[in-house]
Amino acid sequence: MGISFYNFESLHDSSFQKAAMERIAKIVSDGSFVEGEYNTKFENEFAKLQGSKHCLLVGNGTDALEISLLACGVGHGDKVGVPGITFYASAEAVLNIGATPILIDVEYDTGLISIESLKRTLTHHNLKAVMPVHIYGLPANISEINKLAEAHDFSIVEDAAQAQGAKLESGPIGSSGNLTTFSFYPTKNLSAFGDAGCILTDSDELAKAIRAIRNHGRDDEERLGRNSRCDHIQAAVLHLKLEKISQYNDQRKKVAAIYFKELEGINAGLLNKKYVETSSWHLFPIQLKDKAEASSLMGHLKSKNIGNTSFYEKALSGERPLSHLEGEKTEAERKAGSTVCLPIHPFLTSDEVKLVANEVKAFLS
Ligand SMILES: Cc1ncc(COP(=O)(O)O)c(C=O)c1O
Repeated sequence: MGISFYNFESLHDSSFQKAAMERIAKIVSDGSFVEGEYNTKFENEFAKLQGSKHCLLVGNGTDALEISLLACGVGHGDKVGVPGITFYASAEAVLNIGATPILIDVEYDTGLISIESLKRTLTHHNLKAVMPVHIYGLPANISEINKLAEAHDFSIVEDAAQAQGAKLESGPIGSSGNLTTFSFYPTKNLSAFGDAGCILTDSDELAKAIRAIRNHGRDDEERLGRNSRCDHIQAAVLHLKLEKISQYNDQRKKVAAIYFKELEGINAGLLNKKYVETSSWHLFPIQLKDKAEASSLMGHLKSKNIGNTSFYEKALSGERPLSHLEGEKTEAERKAGSTVCLPIHPFLTSDEVKLVANEVKAFLS
C-alpha cells in the first residue's frame, strides 16, 4: 500500500483497455500501422481543443521541438534562448540541429522563464528563437514574450510537454499562434502507450513544412527531413483518451486545490494560488529551503510509501554535456534540487491528498 506518484491501473482500467484493444486489433488486422484514420481524427480534434488551426503528430516531444525549430529556419550557428530549469530535451533539441542554446534564467518561485533575464539576454545575443517551457504545467508569460519577439524578431517555440490542460490569458495552451509542442510520453497528462508528440501551429506554411519534415522531407519542395511519423496505434490510444482528458485535468485541479488548503502556512514555498485555475497540474512542486531539506523531505515521504520526485535535480548547466552553455543561470542553479513534487494524478482521493499534506506538515513542523 501507499500513495503512488502515477496510477496507470486506474488510467488504463478494464473498460479503457477493452476499447483500446479493439482499436489495436483492427489496426493489426488491416495493417494500417503508420499513420491512419486515428492520426487524422486526433489531429483535427486536438487542434480544436487547444485552439489552434493545425496539429501535426510526430514521434515524440523531443522531435516536436527539433522539427519546430527546423521549420522556423533555425539551424547551424543560430542561438536559441532556453530556460535554465527544464527537462534535458529542451536544450538537447537545440544542440541536435546544430544550433546553440543560450541559457535564460528562471523565476525562483515558479521555475518559469524570467522575462527580465530574457530582456537582458537580448541586449547582447541575437536570438533566432526562444523556447519558453510551461514547466510543471504552469503557463509561461507568453504575452510578454510575444511583445519581445516583435521587437527583436525571433521565433517562439513553446515547450508544452507538461502543459496539456493549462491555460494562457488568451485561451488554452497552444492557442497563442506560436508553434507549441507536446510530449505524449506515458507519464504526461495526455499519454500514449509509448512515445508520441505533436506540434500546433496556425500557419499553413509551417504546417506544410512540418508535415514534410516528419516524413523524410516528402512534398513538392525538395528538402531533407527525417522519420518522425506517429504510429497509428499511438494515435488510436491518444484519440480514445481525448474523451476523458478534460475530466481528468479537472480532477488534477481539485487535488491541487486541496493541497493549497491543507498546506497553507507551511514553512516552504507554495506556488501562487492564481495557478489553481491555469496550470495543467502535471506536477505539484513545493520549494524547500535548500537541497538538504528537500532530500530529507523526500526520504521522509518515501519512508511513508508516498511517491515523490525532485524535478529537477540539476539545472541544465549542471548536466555535464550542457555545462559549457553560455547565459544566465543564478536562480536556476539555486532552485535545482530543492523542489519536491508531490503526487498529483487524477485518481487521488481527498483523504489521500490530506494524508500526503499531513506528512509534509509533520516533517516541516
Ligand atoms: C519539458 C519537456 N520537454 C521535452 C520533453 C521531451 O519529450 P519526449 O520524452 O516525448 O521526447 C519532455 C519530456 O519529459 C519534457 O518534460
